[in-house]
Amino acid sequence: MFKRVAPYIGEFKKYTVWAVIMMSIGIIASVLPYFFLYQIISPLTAGESVDMKFVLIRVALVALCEIVYSLSYVQGLVYSHISAYNTLKNLRISLQGKLEKQPLGTIKELGTGRIKKVFTDDIDQIELLLAHAIPEGIANIAIPVIIIVLMFIVDWRLGLLSLVPLVVGMFAMSMMMKQGMSKMNAYYESAARMNNTIIEYVNGMEVVKVFNKDGDSYKKFGDVVRSYRDFTIAWYKVCWPWMATYSSVLPCLVLLMLPFGSGMVLGGFISLDKLILVMCMSFAVGPSVLKALNFAGKFPQLDYKIAELEKMMDKPALKEGTSEFTGKNYDIEFKDIHFGYGETEVLHGVDMSLKQGTTTALIGESGSGKSTLAKLLVHYYDLNTGSITIGGQDITDMSLEALNNHVAFVSQEQFLFNTSLYENILIGRPDATKEEVMEAARRAQCEEFLNRFPDGIMTQAGDGGKQLSGGERQRISLARALLKDAPVIVLDEATAYMDPENEEKMNAALDEIVKDKTVLVIAHRLSTIKNADSICVMKDGLCIASDTHDRLLQTCSEYKKLWDASVSASTWKIKGA
Ligand SMILES: Nc1ncnc2c1ncn2[C@@H]1O[C@H](COP(=O)(O)OP(=O)(O)OP(=O)(O)O)[C@@H](O)[C@H]1O
Ligand SMILES: [Mg+2]
Repeated sequence: MFKRVAPYIGEFKKYTVWAVIMMSIGIIASVLPYFFLYQIISPLTAGESVDMKFVLIRVALVALCEIVYSLSYVQGLVYSHISAYNTLKNLRISLQGKLEKQPLGTIKELGTGRIKKVFTDDIDQIELLLAHAIPEGIANIAIPVIIIVLMFIVDWRLGLLSLVPLVVGMFAMSMMMKQGMSKMNAYYESAARMNNTIIEYVNGMEVVKVFNKDGDSYKKFGDVVRSYRDFTIAWYKVCWPWMATYSSVLPCLVLLMLPFGSGMVLGGFISLDKLILVMCMSFAVGPSVLKALNFAGKFPQLDYKIAELEKMMDKPALKEGTSEFTGKNYDIEFKDIHFGYGETEVLHGVDMSLKQGTTTALIGESGSGKSTLAKLLVHYYDLNTGSITIGGQDITDMSLEALNNHVAFVSQEQFLFNTSLYENILIGRPDATKEEVMEAARRAQCEEFLNRFPDGIMTQAGDGGKQLSGGERQRISLARALLKDAPVIVLDEATAYMDPENEEKMNAALDEIVKDKTVLVIAHRLSTIKNADSICVMKDGLCIASDTHDRLLQTCSEYKKLWDASVSASTWKIKGA
């Protein structure tokens, strides 16, 4: 467990070592007072007179030990926390780096709930390991071991007696761990189920309200919360008796020592002061052992969380190259593309060529694989087989940064960061001037709604861009792409949310922008892509025909069907209107 986390401690390892040293000093300081106590009691039991100065020095030493204990323990905690929180920081940064390199699909499969849990809750648990379990655990185990050895040196029979409660306590603890472990996976599954249901409930609130599903949805929510409660209580019920046994037996090392030891003193086998010394020492053992074992109980949980973290860290990264863009031109070739999100393939060998400076439209029924093909061009996922090249260079040869510098993608799902709209557009080209940003916003037809907002372009986008309508979000995303001014542009239903008037303006603006660029455009309204240089018809994950509008109308029955449907859709009227 520690091996997996250790690399992230890095230069802060020395703090963990110092923490162990400081805490050990603290624990020695907490044990010493028992010896001073013994030094006072021992002569008294032997009926000798005790010098008052001798007593006062011992009392002062006890007070000093208490001060040393507090100071060293606090300093130990300071060191252990410096090491722990720096490790957590390193872990989070490294996890973020690894997630960034993973295909978008992998991240979506994991789900935001689970990713958030690992990033915050699970990683936080590692604090327990580094800040407490390791330094305190090591110190709390080392000291009892030393004391028990000393007890054996004083009198081996008393030493043996002191071990009995330890053995009983450890047995109870191991039984509890066994019970706990057997249900650990089920417990985490139950917790994950509750987590996911809560996230789904909150995310789906809008649908729930619209369809009056409050009752059904709340029932599912209630069921899962109740089932989590029942499961945990049942689990604790099994563990509690064992927990009670070890927590009460472990600290009582004198349990057998007192009756048997007294018998041995009365029988003349050992002297009374030896019994008192061993008993004084025994009081220092119990609490330390209990503390150390309490940490041991946490280890299985921690193990599970680190395994979850590893699972996320170990997912294969996207096949990303390191080269710069070295393509001869901006001709794009899709060759024999096979791809599936999971087991089932959704693209079954797509071949397609895009000539530099031309516009290619992708059309086809919903679910035919258009957006998938577009996402593959911007390397959101790795292909199963086949290749995509730009100017002869495979996109997996170049770094994502190099690819992104040459391709602008406006996807079907718009996402805006919760900053100002200005900054959202600026992402397209961070070194752009304010005038260039405003110009991009104007060309993307944003002015009309920006003028309506009191803060104009400085308006905050809200969580994920929720403050804006779908069409407004789309236009901001377009402005971002326009500002980027990349030689390759991919537009996936970029104007789908717009009203006819805005769409017309937008298409005029787009016509101007896409001039001389290599463009891949996806649109459901076929009238908008009629003039494309080439139209590729997708059906069931295959490109079944590729030609101009006029020729496709004559040669491709599938295209004709889609075209006719598109024309009749544009003349639809609601009955009675
Ligand atoms: N993230 C995903 N995980 C699993 N399957 C997916 C995912 N995204 C799409 N699919 C599946 O892949 C197939 C192609 O989807 P894609 O989004 O490419 O279709 P599309 O042609 O763009 O459709 P539309 O016109 O409705 O946007 C569909 O069967 C869809 O169910
Ligand atoms: Mg799509």
